[in-house]
Parts: sequence; C-alpha cells; structure tokens
Amino acid sequence: MLYSSVQQKELFDNSKKLLQNGVSAKKSIAAAQAEQLRELIVYHEWRYYVLDQPVVSDYEYDCLFQMLKDIEASYPSLIRSDSPTQRVSNDLTEDFPTVEHLTPTLSLENSYNREDLFDFDKRIKKNLGIADTVELEYCVEPKFDGGTIVLLYENDRLVRGATRGNGVMGDEITANIKAISSIPLTAAFSKYGIKKVELRGEAIIRKDLFQKVNIERSKNGEQLFANPRNAATGGLRVKDSKQVRERALDAFIYQVGFAADENNNAVLNNFETHNDLIRMLEALGFKVPKLAAEMEVCSNIDKVSDFCDRWQNARDSYGFEIDGMVVKLNKLGLQDKLGYTSHHPRWAIAYKFAAKQATTKLLNVEFQVGRTGAVTPVAKLAPVELAGVTISSVSLHNEDLIKEKDIRIGDTVLVERAGDVIPYIVKSMAELRDGTEAAIDFPKNCPVCSSELERPASEAVWRCVSPLCEAQLLERLKHFVSKDAMNIDGFGPAYIDKFYQEGMLKNIADIYQLDFERIEKFEGFGKKSVDKLKLSVENSKSNPLYRLLYAFGIRFVGETNSKIFAAAVEDISELKNWSLEQLMSLREIGPKVAQAMFDTFALPETLELIDELEKLGVNTRRLDSELPKAAGSGILGGKTFLFTGTLANMSRDEAEAMVEEHGGKILSTVSKNLSFLVAGEKAGSKLEKANKLQIPVLTEGEFLEMLI
Ligand code: IVH
Repeated sequence: MLYSSVQQKELFDNSKKLLQNGVSAKKSIAAAQAEQLRELIVYHEWRYYVLDQPVVSDYEYDCLFQMLKDIEASYPSLIRSDSPTQRVSNDLTEDFPTVEHLTPTLSLENSYNREDLFDFDKRIKKNLGIADTVELEYCVEPKFDGGTIVLLYENDRLVRGATRGNGVMGDEITANIKAISSIPLTAAFSKYGIKKVELRGEAIIRKDLFQKVNIERSKNGEQLFANPRNAATGGLRVKDSKQVRERALDAFIYQVGFAADENNNAVLNNFETHNDLIRMLEALGFKVPKLAAEMEVCSNIDKVSDFCDRWQNARDSYGFEIDGMVVKLNKLGLQDKLGYTSHHPRWAIAYKFAAKQATTKLLNVEFQVGRTGAVTPVAKLAPVELAGVTISSVSLHNEDLIKEKDIRIGDTVLVERAGDVIPYIVKSMAELRDGTEAAIDFPKNCPVCSSELERPASEAVWRCVSPLCEAQLLERLKHFVSKDAMNIDGFGPAYIDKFYQEGMLKNIADIYQLDFERIEKFEGFGKKSVDKLKLSVENSKSNPLYRLLYAFGIRFVGETNSKIFAAAVEDISELKNWSLEQLMSLREIGPKVAQAMFDTFALPETLELIDELEKLGVNTRRLDSELPKAAGSGILGGKTFLFTGTLANMSRDEAEAMVEEHGGKILSTVSKNLSFLVAGEKAGSKLEKANKLQIPVLTEGEFLEMLI
C-alpha cells in the first residue's frame, strides 16, 4: 500500500481542515498551502480512480481542486508542471497495456449554480469577442456517473477500447469494451467519409440492474459494490471479459474526439454542430443522449439553467446514476475558436448537482422507542450538508446492521441521501480509525421506561413490551393524528408532546376531548390556530373506517391491509368476533397480519377504546365508498396500469387513485401482465422494458381520454 493508515488519517483530517478554513491570501502561506493541496489532491485521486473508494465526496474534492486553482491563479509563479491542475487525473493501473489516445481526453470545469452558468456564458462571449446580448446555443445532457471510455473505430470496425487514464494515455481494455452490448462492433462511418474516429463515452450500470448485481454478489459471498459507479469502473478493468456481462455494463457515447478521412485529414468541419455529430452516432446505432429525452438544444443560457433544474428534480427517477449535467457550446466552429486549457475545454462546463454523499463523524448513538416498542439505534452525526439538506442524525435500523457494517462511535462514516430515500450510512472508514473509536452497545433495558427488552429469535429488532411505556404511547398518538392515518391537519408531533406534558393526553380518546379553551391560553397558540385545530379534529370524526383501523398502528397492518379489513366488516367492533382462520381467509392477508389483528382485538383495551371513540362521535362504520368494486366493473375493469416518469397534470398518487376508482389495478413492475404503461416526462428503464415486452405505452393525455 502506498499510504499507511496514520498518513491516511492525517491526509483526511488536513483535507477537512482546509475545507473548513479555506486558503490564505498571503503568498508565504499560500505557497505552503498549495504544496499541501497538491499532496491531498493526489491522495484523493488515488482513492477515487485507483481504489474506487473515495473518502471525501466529489464536491469536497472539487473544492480542494478549486482552492489550488485559485492560489495558482493569484500567484502563477507557484504553478508547478506536476500540479494536478496541469493535467487530468490519473486512473492508470499496471494490469493493462497503455495506449495513447488520438487526442487528449480532458476533464471538465465545474459549476454549481445558476450564477456559475451565467459567468461561463459571459466568459465565452468575452473570449469570442462578441456582445453580451448575443444568445449562444448550447447542448445540455446528463453527466453520467460511471467510467470514461475511449473507442477507436477504423474502417467501420471497433479496433480499440481504452480508459481515460491520465488523459493522454489510457489502459487498453478492448476485450472488456467489446463485451458491452450497447457498443456496436461495426458502424458505417464510411458513409460519412470517415475512416478513423475516436469516440468518448461513459460505461455505466442501470440502477435497477446494479441492485440485482449486488444481490447476486451477496448470494455468492462476494463483496458488495458501494454504488453503480464503482461497479462500472471496476467492471471495465476485470481480467475476464465474461464478468463484464455479469455486471450488466452499458455505455452512452457523448463526444466525437477526432475523425479523419482516408487521407488522414480531419473531417469534423463537415459538421456544423455538436448535436449533428451526436445524431450521426445515433443513426449509426450508438446509444447516445436522445433529444426530447436526455438532451436538449437550448437557445440561451437561461434555458440551459432551467433544463439543469428540471433534471436536478427528476434525477432520482432516471434509470442511471448521474451527478450533474454537461453544457456544451453547440456550434463546432465556435468550439474550435475557444480551444482548450491543459485541463478542460473552454466551450464546455459540468453543472454539478448538490452532493448526495459526504463523510462526517459519528458522534454518538441514541436509542429511540417506536409505537410498537421497537428500539431503533439512531446515529448522531456532526452536521453535514447533503443534496441541499443538513443531516445530523440517521437511523442505524438494528443491531445486526451495526455489526454487519462494523460501525463504531467516533468513526468517520460515508453518508448518502438519494432523492426520496432516507439518508443512511453507506459504510465506516475503518482505515481512518485511530484507536479511540468505541463499539456500540445495545441496551438491555428500554431507554425510556427501563423495562427489559425482548428480541424474538426470528427478528432483528429489540422491543420494549411494557404496555405502560410512555415513549410508545407518544409515538402511537403521533401516528394516530398523522396524514396517512386520521389526517388531523395541523396536529403535529410537537402538539402531541406539549399536550402530553400538560397532562391532557393520556390515551387516544383524549384527542377528541381536548380542552380547547385551555389550549388557547398556551404560549404560541392563538384563537385562529386553535379554531383550525378544532375543525380538523372534528372533520376527522367522519373519516372512512380504514383510516381508523390504520391509525391504531397495529403491527404489519398498513394502509392496504386496513382497506381490506374495513371492506370486510360493517362496523369495526365486529372484528372482535373473527377467528384467526376467518381473518386469514381474506384475500392477501397472511398469518402474521392475521395474528397481529387477532391479538389486538382480543385485548379489552382495544374494545374499550373503540367504544369510547364511538361515543365521542368518531365513525366506526364502513362507508359505502369503501366497498370493493365488483371485479371487471368500471371502464378500466380487468386492466392493469403502471405509471412512470413525471406526469404534467396530476401526481402519481392521484393517477393511481383514478385507475382504482374506475375498476383498474396498479402493478408495481413491468411484466407481461401489464395492460398499459403510462409514461410521463423522463420515463426511464420501465419504458425501455415495456417497449421490449411490446406492452402498449400511453401518454398522460391518452390515459385521461380512456376515462371519458
Ligand atoms: S464531455 C472534452 N459529456 O465527466 C470534454 N463528459 O470531468 C469531454 N462525463 O470523466 C467530456 N457524462 O467521462 C462529457 N455527457 C457527458 C458526460 C461526461 C459524463 C464524464 C467524463 C469525464 C467527466 C468530466
């Protein structure tokens, strides 16, 4: 190994210090800092490109890089020829022969916000000597997060494939490249007068296939990949090309680096725009960013910025991992005029999305008790910004997961937040430990009521089973009023805590017996907010029955199961007479759910609560609207639907409710049983699969027409 763990810890700590404190404007200090930054950047590049195990986020790396660039810009005498700013990063390994690219494969400059984009546009105009009021046309496409590949075609045949390497030389990986199905082995470039052409692209893995690859690896006892990017870059360098297929590698081609005719004269000037080149590749059978899907030709920088924003929001529903957008000046003539620095083209810029991963310190672990008594370990973190949100605590789920990931207090941990997914700890950085880290001890007693915890052999969760546990009661109350349960608008968790402290909430029924006059006198509660609360509580009394059942928070009884039970009875109290067998005879109800229902309705407390709620005016009877539609009835009877992409006129929940209202069913995956896929904007892998299986695809408009 190149670095000892002590050195690595020091490099990591120094990186964090510099990121926090920034660099000095004084030349004497800046010189030493530039030296240190070079050392740090080389280290992080090694971890990223060679080991595929970065210890800082891309954003943090970019910040270090930018700091060095800033110092070098202020004091050009400090620039050294071996500075990372003077060349692109190195991912060469010793396992493959190296080859020289026909033209250098450079990196991209980074930008992070609208202002950066406008600065870039201004800079270009200044360099070209054109007025600021002139609008420039840009191509914008995703920045695919995988491994760069460089392909060489001669006489219409793929003759060589390489990694980016140090930008000038790359690892020759032709056999592995040939194993990627989306890369054509032959392509009729000669039709365009091209004899020799160098293409650039990105090898990547679809997010859903990545999951499958990891499941397969875990079955075989192999180490799991931390993310799709690692699986892709590692996949490019496997020794046995058969493994490329096992990893389901795919490739997008996004650039023509060089093209020459039979006399070795460059022929790119036969094309007017970058878009023209990409369309040529598309016509030749390459997988490229498609217009009206991944790519847009924007007529000015304003539209570029809007397109980037739209993608930032839609990023998680896209089939591939992307870490930003790439903005390229469309006119090739203008690109030529601007040229390159030693690091990046002056006519392109990456627009990086807010970081989804970051490293931070795990400060402590607290144990929280949920409404079913489950005790969940929660990691308290040194606050860290992740995709625009500050994260200071994440769930560690259970004892087994802590052991599996070997997470310790004091560890540096890698945290990830992907879209709707709740932030989680990807892993601990064992290499950064200094011996002061402490194991996480799981408590034997409830942290709130001190009663002994139990863990059934078949479960991963420790549970407080005391019926008197205060923490459980509070969580049950919070669940009862929540949006998906009784939906008591404005009745948030803070109100539950406050009213509980005031002694006003001892059980669920108390929610319907609140002394609003007293509440009005509490600090921070005005008449208006109390009136609103009163109305919400009142409205919840006429909820459909399934909401009440769901609000009870019975283990395993979610919204769907609650609807099934509600449809099967006229009044909730009937359930006390149901046997286990009867409960299980309901379609889709399994033994675990049936047992939980049976146990709950055997408790006198449950029946007393129902009685009390009924007396207080809460609906305990099934509404007509809760009766299931007869099979096949309704316009969509017997048909199945799945929605994908962003819908313009309704949310996905609303669309799904419409299908059910009209007798149709929602499926969760594309299969032969699917009648229609409704594809909104930015539909990804589901659309591809539906096309493959020849399942009819509807636009949102076509779907709505079916209902008329
Ligand atoms: S264009 C000469 N377009 O981003 C300009 N790069 O730091 C060549 N990347 O590792 C880059 N998606 O592999 C370009 N649509 C895209 C891209 C893209 C991903 C990668 C590229 C390189 C990095 C640039």
